[in-house]
Amino acid sequence: MNQSITLTVNGTEHRLEVPARRLLVDCLRYDLGLTGTKEGCSVGVCGACTVLINGEMSASCLKLAVAADGAEITTIEGLAQDGRLHPLQQSFIDHGGFQCGICTPGQIMAAKALLDVNPAPTEEEIKAWMMGNLCRCTGYYKILESIVNAIGPTQEANR
Ligand code: FES
Ligand code: FES
Repeated sequence: MNQSITLTVNGTEHRLEVPARRLLVDCLRYDLGLTGTKEGCSVGVCGACTVLINGEMSASCLKLAVAADGAEITTIEGLAQDGRLHPLQQSFIDHGGFQCGICTPGQIMAAKALLDVNPAPTEEEIKAWMMGNLCRCTGYYKILESIVNAIGPTQEANR
């Protein structure tokens, strides 16, 4: 049986009828067409499906859409503003922070969650925070470099 829910995704309110067992990641990708959010492991281990729910980093493969009823959700599609990439997105491009790109939306959303609560993290703090985001391609150094180099521009963009 379907249930009525309301999700505000990237500032737009959506009223949806979803089965009680619909996962949030599937709701975002298939019901709303927001395919930027990726699904890797489906069991909460890889971080590819990371989105922000009410500002908190969350694995959307572990969350039922009905459990997010009424929430404000930010996905990778919500980061660019007025046609300009978020500093984290730009930095991942500038510093080679991705190869295949499957993990990248989750990496960037996790990094955003960190910079939202800690605008100037140390490299050790970044590494500790990002431990839940796996990457099979980059060897992680380029991801770390991308986040480190986004810190200043992100602070400026948030002013
Ligand atoms: S797909 Fe959600 S944590 Fe891997
Ligand atoms: S860029 Fe391919 S898994 Fe991270």
